[in-house]
Amino acid sequence: MTDKKATLSVGDKSIELPVYSGTTGPDVIDVRGLVQHGLFTYDPGFVSTAACESKITYIDGDKGVLLHRGYPIEQLAEQTDYLEVCYLLLHGELPTAAESARFHDTIKNHTMLHDQMRNFFNGFRRDAHPMAIMCGVVGALSAFYHDQIDINDARQREITAHRLIAKMPTIAAWCHKYSTGQPFMYPRNDLNYAENFLHMMFGTPCEEYKPNPILAKAMDRIFILHADHEQNASTSTVRLAGSTGANPFACIASGIAALWGPAHGGANEAVLDMLEEIGDESNIDTFIAKAKDKEDPFRLMGFGHRVYKNFDPRAKVMRETAHEVLAELGLENDPMLKIAQRLEQIALEDEYFVKRKLYPNVDFYSGIILKAIGIPTSMFTVIFAMSRTIGWFSHWNEMVSGDYRIGRPRQLYNGEISRDVAK
Ligand code: CMC
Repeated sequence: MTDKKATLSVGDKSIELPVYSGTTGPDVIDVRGLVQHGLFTYDPGFVSTAACESKITYIDGDKGVLLHRGYPIEQLAEQTDYLEVCYLLLHGELPTAAESARFHDTIKNHTMLHDQMRNFFNGFRRDAHPMAIMCGVVGALSAFYHDQIDINDARQREITAHRLIAKMPTIAAWCHKYSTGQPFMYPRNDLNYAENFLHMMFGTPCEEYKPNPILAKAMDRIFILHADHEQNASTSTVRLAGSTGANPFACIASGIAALWGPAHGGANEAVLDMLEEIGDESNIDTFIAKAKDKEDPFRLMGFGHRVYKNFDPRAKVMRETAHEVLAELGLENDPMLKIAQRLEQIALEDEYFVKRKLYPNVDFYSGIILKAIGIPTSMFTVIFAMSRTIGWFSHWNEMVSGDYRIGRPRQLYNGEISRDVAK
């Protein structure tokens, strides 16, 4: 906090507004008092709006910096595993070795789903999009734990966090198994988090599945790099839903719904669809021209970011991991990956992309890795959702542990003014 003030002049009125400084990042002007002057701020897309105070994640989009609880994402990706990042986001500190072992153990003990949850899966058509199944099944969790969702009880909130972290991979993998018609695979406690996910995705009851350690490490990186990202559209959705006092499972389901769109979490799936549509390196120029044409709605999927106007730090780590995975699987010469590499090169050199700072984002590379591992494109956003659940939960938890009010934006009304029905 500072004693800085901003002065706003509207007509002949001069309004003084407090200005606050965080530990880093831009100052914010507290506009809450404007309503007493009969004024609202107008900021569709929330481009200039800080909607809350938070201690979880910091992004400096111009410098390409992403910090979770102060730790750079590159260090977390290199030196921790996903469950330690979950612990960090939730509790504010990295776990000690003993805390880490206990946390891993706790999560392992929550991975199974209530057996009646199978019925939810069976209610869906076999061709249902796995995001549709995940939205429904996660929302339904509130029906199974309805007596343990007192949002004012810190211990119940913690157990809910454990349940969500543990059960999301099971739900995600079962969404996939259901669409292929293969039997659901139960979690295995002898495997780590990422290995267990691969086992539930690709294993069958007929033979033992042996996860490849390089692919499991790559999956763990994908989970870490998607774990949280400040007040993005889905996190803000979770906060808004949570501000009404809704239960955490319902709030996470709202986050999943918001993540689904192609401008947000759906981008990694859209990247692969785009690469397939381009089809051949000879068509790249046509698609680049379409991306630059303002009359054409086509955009290069996996490029650009609302906040990063520099290389997304997650994309740098993901790029390295993509090369490791492709080398391990002998896929360096895959034609679709050749198209991806060429697009990346063009976007980093072409004036249109350079001028607008449209760098490849995390989804560009994560889509390529997931495809190489053999995960169907329709599962990409599901994997994003399971990784982001801890971020959503931590923000919800931070909000409900402090002072908060129901989120209720106002509007600039431009419709008809009052008129009478004349019959
Ligand atoms: N291809 C071509 N042109 C683009 C692209 C793109 N992918 N992204 C932005 N532009 C242009 C846009 O047309 C505009 O040009 P001009 O200034 O001439 O009108 C300029 O760049 C600024 O774009 P914007 O729409 O104002 O930027 P935004 O901050 O509102 O949108 C975005 C950010 C991520 C939605 C957008 O870049 C986009 O649609 N990218 C493709 C989808 C994608 O990869 N999304 C994943 C984002 S990362 C994961 C996540 O956090 O969810």
